[in-house]
Amino acid sequence: MAKQEDKFKSVISHAKEYGYVFQSSEIYDGLSAVYDYAQNGVELKKNIREYWWKAMVQMNENIVGLDSAIFMHPKVWKASGHVDAFSDPLIDNKDSKKRYRADVLIEDYVAKLDAKIEKEVKKATKRFGDAFDKVEFLATNGRVLGYKEKGAAILKRMGQSLEKEDLADVKALIEELEIACPLSGSKNWTDVKQFNLMFGTKLGASAESAMDLYLRPETAQGIFVNFLNVQKSGRMKIPFGIAQTGKAFRNEIVARQFIFRMREFEQMEMQYFIKPGTQKEWYEYWKETRMKWHMSLGMGEENYRFHDHDKLAHYADAAADIEFRFPFGFKELEGIHSRTDFDLKAHEEHSGKKLQYFDHEENKSYAPYVLETSIGLDRMFLAVFSNSLQEEELENGTTRTVLKLPSVLAPTKAAILPLVKKDGLPEIARKIMGDLKWDFNVAYDEKDAVGRRYRRADANGTPFCITVDHDTLNDDSVTIRHRDTMEQQRVKISELKDIISKEVSMKNWLLKM
Ligand code: GAP
Repeated sequence: MAKQEDKFKSVISHAKEYGYVFQSSEIYDGLSAVYDYAQNGVELKKNIREYWWKAMVQMNENIVGLDSAIFMHPKVWKASGHVDAFSDPLIDNKDSKKRYRADVLIEDYVAKLDAKIEKEVKKATKRFGDAFDKVEFLATNGRVLGYKEKGAAILKRMGQSLEKEDLADVKALIEELEIACPLSGSKNWTDVKQFNLMFGTKLGASAESAMDLYLRPETAQGIFVNFLNVQKSGRMKIPFGIAQTGKAFRNEIVARQFIFRMREFEQMEMQYFIKPGTQKEWYEYWKETRMKWHMSLGMGEENYRFHDHDKLAHYADAAADIEFRFPFGFKELEGIHSRTDFDLKAHEEHSGKKLQYFDHEENKSYAPYVLETSIGLDRMFLAVFSNSLQEEELENGTTRTVLKLPSVLAPTKAAILPLVKKDGLPEIARKIMGDLKWDFNVAYDEKDAVGRRYRRADANGTPFCITVDHDTLNDDSVTIRHRDTMEQQRVKISELKDIISKEVSMKNWLLKM
């Protein structure tokens, strides 16, 4: 646990030190759960967004983009169910005065049971060596089955109680499991209450005429209310998708864990409009397709898993999360939701406007069903950043800090380094930079010894260093150093573009899907 916490602390401090993420309004002591992206962070975020957009929009001829406004008519949120049902169950500890999400306290308890299962597996692997059959062990070991059964029963009961709005039973469950406040150890809890997560604001110049608005808590509703506009103007045929990326706002009760849970964050969502009755196959299709997208980044299969929901949101008939192993354990990274025709029907009802698709093959109109994929851009940023940050022991006994970002996402693709600040080397380096910057984000660095500059580029996540030395004056060649292997190659300046291109091209990465 302490190791995990240390790793997480080093992620946060590295993000600050290398210009990735800063606390918002830091000089005023910050604003809780609000963050700013700095010079490198903004590039990494943009690259993740583009990687998603390429895969979701440009590679699918039946998926198009949208950029709807953050402000929407207040009736949107009544229709979507957010006014009545977008709340979290909160509980306060009377002694520590700390506020928690009741469901998260229970889920954390179950995560501890999962951790016990992992421990049993580790012990057995050690005991049985090569003869160990993990699948068999997980299916037959008494202790493991006990933990699994207990966890499943707890989650089922919690899901049912939340569904029935039986908040007294949620509190009873916390007490029965003897869950204590993680901060104080106290088990002195208040009742569980619902807390709406939407931020309210006003539209209008005078107090009397102002209209109550909400900052959107998800981007999806902008897609639903534009469904027919896009379908008609784009002559889209079912199945088709609408995708958008943009800010969303939630007044989170428990806003900690850095950019994992923020009050202002960015989503990348896609709504796929389908024929009613086909939702199961499209649900499986998008689960698999989204997992392949994650795998294409090469961050380790073992770091992802699906979590099928017992507790469904008010709009869904099936839902799963893609969970990622963050420094604080497996947590939701992306949601895949089968949303039925809930949203379109609700908007038809509240707006009085028809939101139906005319199916020429079937010769009838209907409200399509919707399959949604929804990923938090900031959460994806944290997944990529934390997984990439490594401390490596080198053969010579020293260590290096290296940010092994997938090179397609790295903010800077190459650092160009003249070996010395004289003899015409900076001029050649500047010329190389001038040529490469048309195709890649590159940086020039002439300060300090070249070894230090390599370390700086490693910690910054830059996949290549290009060193211009005295031989360059005669042979038009430079040394290119690869971040991950630290291997160095002598290459012609004219080859640089192709070498970098091959390594960072989105096409080469997405072809791994
Ligand atoms: N339209 C469906 C929807 O919004 P969600 O599961 O509430 O579903 C989707 O959110 C994704 O948005 C999550 O998987 C997560 O990656 C991201 N997300 C949600 N709340 C967040 C928060 N407070 N901070 C950062 N990311 C968040």
